[in-house]
Amino acid sequence: MSKITYLATKDYQDLSQQAASLIIAEIVSNPKAMICLAAGDTPIGTFGELVRMAKDQAVDFSLVTFVSLDEWVGLDGQNEGSCRSYLDKYLYKPLNIKAEQIKFFDGKALDIMGECEKMNAFLAEFGPLNLCLLGIGVNGHLGFNEPYSAFDQNAYVCDLDEITQTVGNKYFKTAYNIKQGITLGLQQILSADKIITIANGDSKQAAVTALRAGVADIACPVTLLNEHQDCYAILFV
Ligand code: GLP
Repeated sequence: MSKITYLATKDYQDLSQQAASLIIAEIVSNPKAMICLAAGDTPIGTFGELVRMAKDQAVDFSLVTFVSLDEWVGLDGQNEGSCRSYLDKYLYKPLNIKAEQIKFFDGKALDIMGECEKMNAFLAEFGPLNLCLLGIGVNGHLGFNEPYSAFDQNAYVCDLDEITQTVGNKYFKTAYNIKQGITLGLQQILSADKIITIANGDSKQAAVTALRAGVADIACPVTLLNEHQDCYAILFV
């Protein structure tokens, strides 16, 4: 039976405040937490609230480690719309996070497999994640784990679904035509001590309906959260 805790939401701002409160609570209870935060549009409000609450409550982020969830292959923080650029703009820079606190995939690395190996070695030594904040893809993906990805996967380079490629255009002013992503694998995501998933808007309806059905089905990766022991879903869909 699904153990997901669904938190009621009034609107997107309420969703963002609740997600940020859970993240702050984690950092207060474990100042050395290792956390992974999705990029994309949905968490922008959460990041804004995190920055506000962190300042209001004088929360110390200086010992937190931030692990990358995913990145578009061919892009890095210099490319507007990349995952790293979202985190830099909305979270790392406003919170003055130091470079050494951030373990992020470099989507531009010539040795892209080496990026996976580095992440896998890092998580094997220091993992699992204490907390992972996940958005939900239109097709139900988690990070870039597309429908029918392997369960037992660590970080890897994947071919992106047509839907992900099309939806992904919303992030970029330049048409990059990206066909691959680099992502934490489902095994690394699902072994996080705590998971928070957030979704906002009509485009997520189908994935959220599948999630709420309560059955893990790799055809819609977000439904695997139904098997996690400590997962919150904060949805305004
Ligand atoms: C993107 C990213 C995910 C993100 C999801 C939802 O493609 N790969 O990490 O969580 O899709 O994005 P958004 O919040 O912009 O809808």
